[in-house]
Amino acid sequence: MSNSPTNTEAWRHTGARAEPDKELPGHLRMMLALDDFEAPARRYLPRPMYGYVSGGAETNSSLRANRAAFDDYAFVPRALVDVSGRSCKTTLFGQTYDAPFGFAPMGGSSMAAYQGDIVLARSAAASNIPMIMSGASLSRLEDVRSAGRTAWFQAYLPGETAAITELVNRVAAANFDTLVLTVDVPVGANRENNVRSGFNRPLRPTVRLAWDSFLHPRWFVGMFLRTLLTQGMPHFENLGPRTPLITRTGERDRGQRDQLSWPHVELMRRLWKGKLVLKGVLNKNDARIARESGVDGVIVSNHGGRQLDGAIAPLRVLPGVVEEARGMTVMMDSGIRRGTDILKALTLGAQFVFVGRPFLYAAAIGGDIGVRHAIKLLREEVDRDMALLGITRLEELKRELLVDARNP
Ligand code: GLV
Repeated sequence: MSNSPTNTEAWRHTGARAEPDKELPGHLRMMLALDDFEAPARRYLPRPMYGYVSGGAETNSSLRANRAAFDDYAFVPRALVDVSGRSCKTTLFGQTYDAPFGFAPMGGSSMAAYQGDIVLARSAAASNIPMIMSGASLSRLEDVRSAGRTAWFQAYLPGETAAITELVNRVAAANFDTLVLTVDVPVGANRENNVRSGFNRPLRPTVRLAWDSFLHPRWFVGMFLRTLLTQGMPHFENLGPRTPLITRTGERDRGQRDQLSWPHVELMRRLWKGKLVLKGVLNKNDARIARESGVDGVIVSNHGGRQLDGAIAPLRVLPGVVEEARGMTVMMDSGIRRGTDILKALTLGAQFVFVGRPFLYAAAIGGDIGVRHAIKLLREEVDRDMALLGITRLEELKRELLVDARNP
């Protein structure tokens, strides 16, 4: 790419509207919006991997609701405002980023893209946005920490003191500064789509998997064989016992996740000196308890529609959570694909948002260049939408700029 991704001025003046970027490799040129990365990723990935990344739980009702929620709000822009000096830089937990979005944690990153976690960490650092590293990833947290400035680690934890203490100490020793505990996974979700597509974690060495891989030779050679030859068989590195990605018999030991409860959050608060964030909060009462427990922030999320099917879209409960948070940092994920989605979430009280799947699709089909291009597209949308809305700073996103689309 011709423009340094960290040079805000440079990317702003690349054009007021979306157009093919001639500097990009051919297969990325018509990637004009985040949704464009999905179809080529679907062709690139074997069916179980694509199904795992794209799918939700049961009927996909929450997955659909996440997108639909954005359409229920409409902007009422201001005209004739000088917006020439605008900036979408955002400060979160004392750190200033070049955009109000970062990468949500994604466990499948290094299964979909060659060195996916490292690619995402490097691209986030180069574009000065945060990445939350997934505790379910296939890369050692220490390696991802040193690949970028990524200092957010997401943990799945059982309600067991010894396991919690061990992980908190390891994450602290690796110099992460923000620990994100995912709180919407007391049991595994009912992802029937994974059973139908032949996905399992760990994967089973079946004829079907071999056939699916044979049908996707670019993934098989460019991702799987390349990983085997350069790094050996990937393993789940950060949760419980080390388990290989593909095994005939091994199971991942998830521990007693259904015992995890508020006393464990209090324990983590005592052990962890950095910022502590809970991800997967939807109920405003939980935001209140989080605040009272000394938590620094919550991510309002239904796990991208991947846990409780029918769980409400985060955008709809955001204002209530913000009210109960009373100053505690509130962030959001689930369903964000456009700059306008981000501006709607920020107007409803989120201080920052996280986006998942599209960046993983970008990593799968385009590596570092693909991910940086995706970041640039979304950041340009935010910048353009700010101008069209008549604001120069994200703090100017006042509630009066957004109304109920059907009942203004
Ligand atoms: C992991 O976080 C998943 O949603 O599969």
